[in-house]
Amino acid sequence: MGGAAFILPIILKIYRNGVNFMNYNISEKFKSLKPSAIREIFKSLGTPGAISFAAGNPNPDSFPVREMREIADEIFDKDASAALQYGITEGYTPLRELIKARLKRVYNIGAPDDELIIVTGGQQGIELTCKVMCNEGDVVLCENPSFIGALNAFRSLGAKLVGVPLNDDGIDVDKLENALKSNPKAKFLYTIPTFQNPAGITTTFEIRKKVLDLAKKYGILILEDNPYGDLRFKGDDVPTYKSLDTDGRVMYCGSFSKVLSAGMRIGFLCGNKELIQKIVVAKQVEDVHTNLMFQMICAKYIEKYDLDKHILEIRDMYRHKAELMISALEENMPKTVSFTRPEGGIFLWCSLPEGASLDQFIKKAGEKNVFVVPGTAFAADPDEPCRSFRLNYSMPSDEEIVKGIKILADICREL
Ligand SMILES: Cc1ncc(COP(=O)(O)O)c(C=O)c1O
Repeated sequence: MGGAAFILPIILKIYRNGVNFMNYNISEKFKSLKPSAIREIFKSLGTPGAISFAAGNPNPDSFPVREMREIADEIFDKDASAALQYGITEGYTPLRELIKARLKRVYNIGAPDDELIIVTGGQQGIELTCKVMCNEGDVVLCENPSFIGALNAFRSLGAKLVGVPLNDDGIDVDKLENALKSNPKAKFLYTIPTFQNPAGITTTFEIRKKVLDLAKKYGILILEDNPYGDLRFKGDDVPTYKSLDTDGRVMYCGSFSKVLSAGMRIGFLCGNKELIQKIVVAKQVEDVHTNLMFQMICAKYIEKYDLDKHILEIRDMYRHKAELMISALEENMPKTVSFTRPEGGIFLWCSLPEGASLDQFIKKAGEKNVFVVPGTAFAADPDEPCRSFRLNYSMPSDEEIVKGIKILADICREL
């Protein structure tokens, strides 16, 4: 057995060397798509002592493992045949009802013409919305920088990305209007208005009202992505676009990834019935329905336990980590380096002074075993110059935050 395991790869290698492998004629849409810079960085993280500020993961201490094990046992004891069977594409009905009730209670979301579908993570919700809205070559407007998973989904569907700069108070409305004027084929604006990924910025209420007015004026949809909305640890809530929506113009995308479990892959879209019906058809083609066992676990968790209390505990953990990172940055970074001060979520955004080389900074940080994601990964146009990088504080330990920020500050001073 052991001998065969050793010899087989050698035989295969000799065989392959003599064979001309097929020339894969990859589609135009996928030819230009590169693997996510973040996944590439993960490959370097195996080295001992590596400190990563690169991830976008929730802290595993936030997973309610004991409760989920208990619920899973209960489902297998009492309802295994339903959990292991096909389900409906719209999603597990009790879970949909529980989410609708929570959206109404917490966010005042849910008009009579709205419907809700469970999707396989917010990622699928974003991709499906683009799929049903866009023809090849249609324009999608987005904040610049923005979430790489969404940008790549739009690219993979042949949409053209037009980035609109993000200011400290949210998307730049004047530039948004210019972009709308010069792109009459724009189909929707993709926005993460609350604790934005990667910048950690929250769009103010005033800006949200202006954006909604512009969307009406130019006849476009708003895709509001809000996976971090529950994670406010400072300041006051700002109404969501969806709660201000009066004419079915906003598609709202939510997720349980950052409040219960990311591996569960449960998200949801809430929008006008007509659009949701199309999304149901598109989802049927992709994966029939979202994993039913985890939909059931999620529903039972909400029914049996206190999700809001659980979320408060996560907020406390992230408040502590964010404050620690911000004070380490304030104490150590040269004053020429600027950074955002998020009121929630899991990221902040650091910018080097004019003339500094981001490439050199990232390279030196990697040599010292500290990993961050270069801002270029989040740009609508990855070739445009960038001096910013993203820092994550949900994953590293307190010691890593203090040590890693000191190392990054030393590199900034050296450069
Ligand atoms: C802004 C944003 N939207 C959507 C997602 C996708 O989340 P999921 O597919 O895990 O629900 C993420 C994940 O990091 C994100 O940062």
